[in-house]
Amino acid sequence: MCGIVGYVGDREAQDILLGGLRRLEYRGYDSAGIVTVDVEGEPSLFRAKGKVAELEKAMKDKPDRVGIGHTRWATHGEPSEVNAHPQRVGDVYVVHNGIIENYKELKSELKAYDFKSQTDTEVLAALIDSLYQRSDVKLENAVVQALKLVRGAYGIAVISTREPGTIVAARMGSPLIVGVADDETLIASDASALVGHTDKAIYLNDGEVAVCTAGDVRMLDLASQPVSAKVETIEIDLQSMQKGGFDHYLMKEIFDQPDSLRATLNGRVIKDQDLLRLGGLNMSDDELRKVKNVFIVACGTASYAGLLASYYIERFTDDVTVRVEVASELRYRSFNVPENSIAIFVSQSGETADTLACLKEMKRRGVRCLGVVNAVGSSIAREVDGGVYVHAGAEVSVASTKAFTSQVAALLLIGLVMAQTKGLDQKTLREYIAELDVLPDEIAKTLEAKNDEAKALAEKYNHYDHAFYIGRDTTFPVALEGALKLKETSYVHVEGQPAGELKHGSIALIDDRFFMVAFVDDNWLVEKSLSNVIEVQARGGHIITVTNSDRPIDTEAVITVDTSLKLLTPLLFNVVSQLFAYYMAVARGNDVDQPRNLAKSVTVE
Ligand code: F6R
Repeated sequence: MCGIVGYVGDREAQDILLGGLRRLEYRGYDSAGIVTVDVEGEPSLFRAKGKVAELEKAMKDKPDRVGIGHTRWATHGEPSEVNAHPQRVGDVYVVHNGIIENYKELKSELKAYDFKSQTDTEVLAALIDSLYQRSDVKLENAVVQALKLVRGAYGIAVISTREPGTIVAARMGSPLIVGVADDETLIASDASALVGHTDKAIYLNDGEVAVCTAGDVRMLDLASQPVSAKVETIEIDLQSMQKGGFDHYLMKEIFDQPDSLRATLNGRVIKDQDLLRLGGLNMSDDELRKVKNVFIVACGTASYAGLLASYYIERFTDDVTVRVEVASELRYRSFNVPENSIAIFVSQSGETADTLACLKEMKRRGVRCLGVVNAVGSSIAREVDGGVYVHAGAEVSVASTKAFTSQVAALLLIGLVMAQTKGLDQKTLREYIAELDVLPDEIAKTLEAKNDEAKALAEKYNHYDHAFYIGRDTTFPVALEGALKLKETSYVHVEGQPAGELKHGSIALIDDRFFMVAFVDDNWLVEKSLSNVIEVQARGGHIITVTNSDRPIDTEAVITVDTSLKLLTPLLFNVVSQLFAYYMAVARGNDVDQPRNLAKSVTVE
């Protein structure tokens, strides 16, 4: 989603801002812009529709030492140069992530202004300008006054030609970080844009305003009162941000999984002692033992990770009910939280607006909230009472892959630790620990063995525009996740369905325009799953079966995963379906890492 960068210091701002915007490209955007101001207050504004490379072409070199930049993912108004940020009104330039909900009301009151764009951001810029008319008003005061009138979510950076050398930044619901270094200050909506400049940063909290000058930051609240800021050390693994010899981040991240999963499990699964250790839950054994209900709240792929984990957690506990809730629904629904509930918020970015809103609601109701988060220092990680960082490393490709695998593993660990306090038998615990321990190697083996088959199948099936993905029990969430992965990378219309649900309606769709991917785990349900496959085959369906079974399966294609795993096979099927989605995207000529219309971090609802 949109990205913000800002720089004030003694180096040339343009290069630093462009470099920062390039680092934010992975978030997804459709236009970009930069404004810098020289010491006399003379601005240089450049904006372009499309990629940062287009912006760069449109720019003229200016040696200014202060500026702000933005990558925009359109919300109000189409992607275009005029709607790109920075938005200028009078002396004021604003870049903004988020949505100003009352922008129409505000706009109708700002009658003196002739608005040029369709953006809510221009309205905010006008509002600030209207409060900045008197020469004795400082930019920081105009910004604070304006923000008091605004409803909605924002991360903003503002500069003025009247006060060159100052950037005012503020946050409400949309992340913003101020990087501090000797003689220079940087602003970014995502820590990756600070890499190479500083590892010291202040994470703004909602309602905080940072007044930034070269090498200095002063923090205020919306009552203009000073607030103290904590400077933290940010950890960004630069290697995670590179393609490492692969053509696309997506492929690199699929192949990262053995290592990223090892990082999730490292120090937490101690196989030779049959021990699990989770430091950050901040819950006593007694508190864990009392848990009867678990809400897993997430969006998209993270919700499917939650759904898969829910099947396991209910398997190895007798008295725990797990409810998996899509955050955008839960947030506006009437729902009851029974006694002895905890809520787990699963998020790669840790910034997903709907998930964060549900977290705030659960906290308001006094529910114990845990996080399963990848991005260290993100909003969700900071708001929860405890939890597990998945440590999968930066995920750059918009389609989530390695985060999913690590999220499932982290949720299993939480579930197992809880089950242990409730008296889980040693044998079951040992089985899960043994499988988790070898899972990274099994994933490595599967990726190696199935890569060529997945590629060949994508070459054969890429002309289809419709597909079904089906599974049962723990392969049902894998079908949903596989369907989502194929949709977003290949723009194929795919439906994920429980295998047993097809004949309740959807099977009517099966014809030559469809292909189907069926996940068949060789467990107690294998015969039922195969019957569903045969039903579709009997109607002329083009079926790819992904299985670990050595039974004869007579579908159009079969991918057999050779594994010793019994419980966690769905995670191996999932990496096969990730490979297939990747090769389908390549075969269809799509933008693999930044699929159309999508953003990496969904910070608006
Ligand atoms: C799909 C995908 C999305 C995210 C969803 C939640 O590949 O990436 O469905 O899973 O937007 O994002 P996070 O995990 O950052 O909360």
